[in-house]
Formats: sequence, structure tokens, C-alpha cells
Amino acid sequence: MNTAVTFRLIVFAIVCCNAVADAQESADRTGTDTVNVNPKIVTGLIHSHCQKCHGPEEQKGKLRLDTLSLKIGNRSQMQQWQGVLGALKSSKMPPKDEPQPSTAARNEVVRHLTSTLQQATKRFGRGHQYRSGKIAIEAASADEPKVESFKRETVLAAAKYLDDGAVAWARTRKCITCHTTGTYMAERPSLTKMLGPPRAEVLNNFVNAVYDEPAYKGDFWFVWRSLGLAQWDKHVTGKLSEHTSDSLRQMFSRQMEDGSWDIARRNIQIPHVTTKFELAVQAARAVTAAPGWLDHLEGDKLHQQVTRMKTYLREYQPRNDYEQSLKLKLASVMPELLTKTEIDESVAMLRRHQQSDGGWSTRRMSDSSKWSVRKPSRIIELLKSEPDADAPASDPYMTALAIVLMRESNIPADDNQIQRGIAWLKANQRQSGRWWMKSLSFKGDNRKNYTTYISTAQALRALALCGEIAEPAANP
Ligand code: HEC
Ligand code: HEC
Repeated sequence: MNTAVTFRLIVFAIVCCNAVADAQESADRTGTDTVNVNPKIVTGLIHSHCQKCHGPEEQKGKLRLDTLSLKIGNRSQMQQWQGVLGALKSSKMPPKDEPQPSTAARNEVVRHLTSTLQQATKRFGRGHQYRSGKIAIEAASADEPKVESFKRETVLAAAKYLDDGAVAWARTRKCITCHTTGTYMAERPSLTKMLGPPRAEVLNNFVNAVYDEPAYKGDFWFVWRSLGLAQWDKHVTGKLSEHTSDSLRQMFSRQMEDGSWDIARRNIQIPHVTTKFELAVQAARAVTAAPGWLDHLEGDKLHQQVTRMKTYLREYQPRNDYEQSLKLKLASVMPELLTKTEIDESVAMLRRHQQSDGGWSTRRMSDSSKWSVRKPSRIIELLKSEPDADAPASDPYMTALAIVLMRESNIPADDNQIQRGIAWLKANQRQSGRWWMKSLSFKGDNRKNYTTYISTAQALRALALCGEIAEPAANP
């Protein structure tokens, strides 16, 4: 069977499973068990402002609103209404050049849909964070209880979450992402001795991405892919593979004059910093992880390109404490690029940021006035609207990252500050094995909160670097 046909069958199977699950879900609910949208409040606005493009004649964005059931009876209907609410709330719809409803009319619908959908969420659950075939990972939620005690089983649950999430992503999406498969391949291979090898299905996804037409042409794609493949070579097979070499070569074919890579418009600065500097740091990690790759570049054009990357990284002036901390990540792979003083100062800076509960807070690492490009007002508003905006609470991502960076800077695991951070992590794991973290990029209850995935990967790394994850006893 050729791959195109196989692919279509797989897609069909996935769609089919979802349809069956949804049908099952609605069958479980009786007729009265619906949450109702009030037609008096909503229908008028949809009719006059949406119908034209989302009605019987046209279904822009494949969306038809006049037939959308007002009686919400399952999660998929709920999610469609969530889309409508989102479009209205953000004023994305109707499109700017179309007649707009009055602010009062818009607000009334937004208020009504918000409360209706809160009820619906209580009834139908929040959906899945990752889902494909048998993998169905519940949405991450702030309400999820914490573990009673951190132990081997909770570590294994976290590892399974990382494995399943990445596999589900690789099966259903084409892109390599900072928040799922990219994170997985960057961090999971180094845990092989403690948790077993990472999943080959995700590796295959990355290998195919070297040779297939790129699904996504941003430089992120090339850098994260190379990092993941190189980490696999380093920690799983122990030797450089051809696909990693090819991937690195392609990565350097995208390098810019100044030695860095293009982040286009996707400058996402917190919580998982994906600035130009961060992307170049990931490239440096890729180059150094690939076993022996750097040793065979003499006289090659690649050699000059690596030198240019190093110059960029060495000279880069951090704009905030987060970027300063990434200099430590850089020092862990290319120690020659930092002076001892720079390292000491960065460690001291991290130490100062520890909070009294033992954790660190991502939001305290980069004042929004210090971001390298102006952030959309949407994000600034989002951060301001957080209930703890004035004194941001500790979060698992920054706590774990701070520990990782200190360990990579050779601070001993029994350091008092590291130990307090470890205690924070152990106390904040959730029962599903995850370290929950709210999205700082997207507002609302029904978000994917992929920062939870990033945090979980980083937390396992931190715990591993402090000897908190035992290697299983060798088989007799
Ligand atoms: C002039 C045409 C037009 C009108 C009027 C219009 N839309 Fe859209 N809508 C589009 C197009 C085109 C897309 C798909 C492309 C996109 O996402 O920007 C879309 C996409 C959407 C989506 C998909 C998700 C998203 O946010 O991208 C939602 C939900 C939506 N519209 C809701 C509405 C609602 C609610 C109204 C009325 C308040 C409305 N639209 C009015 C053209 C229109
Ligand atoms: C440059 C890094 C980066 C890459 C590459 C990337 N993403 Fe993301 N994406 C993010 C960040 C950061 C978030 C916000 C995560 C959070 O705060 O929970 C996000 C969130 C999302 C969300 C969740 C939005 C929500 O409503 O919560 C989806 C879906 C998503 N990305 C899909 C994709 C897809 C598909 C691709 C491949 C084309 C992709 N991402 C590539 C950084 C990236």
C-alpha cells in the first residue's frame, strides 16, 4: 500500500474513532440532560452578523452557525460554541471590514455564552489535551489534586504522560513543536537509563521530517528537529546517524548572516522562551549533542557557520533575567563561550529569584518592558489579569529549569536552595503525573495548557539531575 493511501486511512480511522466517541457521549446523555443556549439572546446577533458567511449559502472556515444546536448535548457541540464565544470575545468576528454589532449586544452574548459554557464544561468535562486512538489524555486542569507522595509510580506516570502525549501529537499533527514533540525529543532521551528508551514512533516522525517536504517551513522546525535527533543519537544509540548529520546540514543552510536563526513572527517570549537567542541556544545544544559531529568540520563551510553561531551566542547581550539564565544553558554545552564571572553572576541571579516557598516564577524572570520585541497587547493584558499579577506565584517550569541550570553549572544536588526547589516540585506534582501549569499565552478555561507538558519534561530532568529518579535495578 502506498503511503498516501495509508495516511488517508489513518486519518479516516482517527476521524472515525472521534465520531464514534462523540456519538457514544451523546447517547449517554438523555434529552433533558443538555445545557441550553438562550435563542432570545443569541440568535438575533448570529442571524444579522454571522449568517452571511456561516449559514446555508457559505460556510467560511467550514463553519455553519444557523444549524448549530442550541441544546448543548455533548462536548463537541460545547467546543463549537466555545469557538463562537472566542471569536466574539476577541472581536475577531465578524471580520474588521464588516458591520459590527454594538458593544452592548456583543457583551450580552459573551456574558450569556460564558456562563452557559461554564455549566456545559461542568457537565461534559474539558476534553483532552492529547488524543489519538487509545491515547486519551484528559485536559490539564488547575483543579487536579496533587499526589499524596512523590514516588517511583508517580515518576512513571509522568514519563507515560510525556511518551503518550508525544506519540499522539506525532500521529495527528505534522509539525514539530516547541511544546510537545520538540520538548520530548530534546529532554526525554537523556532519561533513557532511568525510564527506558523514548518512543521510536516520535523518532520516526523526526527522521521523516528530514527527508519529506517540510510541513512547516519556519526555522524552528529545523532547529528543534536537529536537537531531537542529536539527543537521540547521544543518549539512545551513542553514535551519530546520517539523518542527524543531514538535519544539521539543513539547519545551517537556514542560518542568517548574524549567525542566528529566523524566528519570523513567532517570537514567543514566555513562558517557554522562543526568541532568536533561545533558538540559537537550542542549535548549540544540537551541534554539541550529535556525537563527534563537531570534530569533522575542518575546512568545511559548516565550520565557519558554527564559528559564526558561537560569535553570535557569545556576544549576545541578554535583555532580561530569563535570557541571562539561558546563558547558563549555553555554558553547559559550550563552556568556552562564557567567562567564570558571567557564570557566577548568572547563578547568583537565579539564586536571588527563589521564592520563600522554594519555587521560582517564570513571570518574574522577564518584565514585559524588557521583552526583545513588543508583545501583543493581548498577552500583556492576559498577564495583568492574572489574580496574582502583583506577586506572581512559583510555577513548575521555572522551578525545574532553575534547578537544571544550577546542576548543569555543577552546583551540588545537596545545595540548600536546590533541595528546597526539589521539595517544591515533589509537593506540586498532580495525580496524573503531570506538573500542571497555566498557559501564559492563552486565556480561558478550555485551553490546552501545553506549558504543562513543557513543565513536566523539565521537572523530570531536574529530579533526575538530583538523583531523585532511581535507575531500575539491572535484570538478573
Ligand atoms: C464576511 C464574512 C464573515 C462574517 C460576517 C463572519 N465570519 Fe467568521 N469566519 C470568516 C472566515 C473567512 C473564517 C475563516 C478564516 C479565519 O479563521 O479567519 C471565519 C472563521 C470563523 C470561526 C472559526 C474559528 C476562528 O476564530 O478562526 C468562527 C468561530 C467564526 N468565524 C465565528 C463567527 C461569528 C460568531 C460571526 C458573527 C459574529 C462571524 N464568524 C462572522 C468569515 C466571516
Ligand atoms: C516556536 C515554538 C512553537 C512551535 C514551533 C509551535 N508552537 Fe504551538 N504553541 C507554542 C506556545 C508557546 C504555545 C502556548 C502554550 C501554553 O501557553 O500553554 C502554543 C500553543 C499551541 C496550541 C494550543 C492553543 C490553545 O488554545 O491552548 C496549539 C493547538 C498549538 N500550539 C499548535 C501548534 C501546531 C499545530 C504547531 C506546528 C505548526 C505548533 N503549535 C508549533 C509554541 C510553538
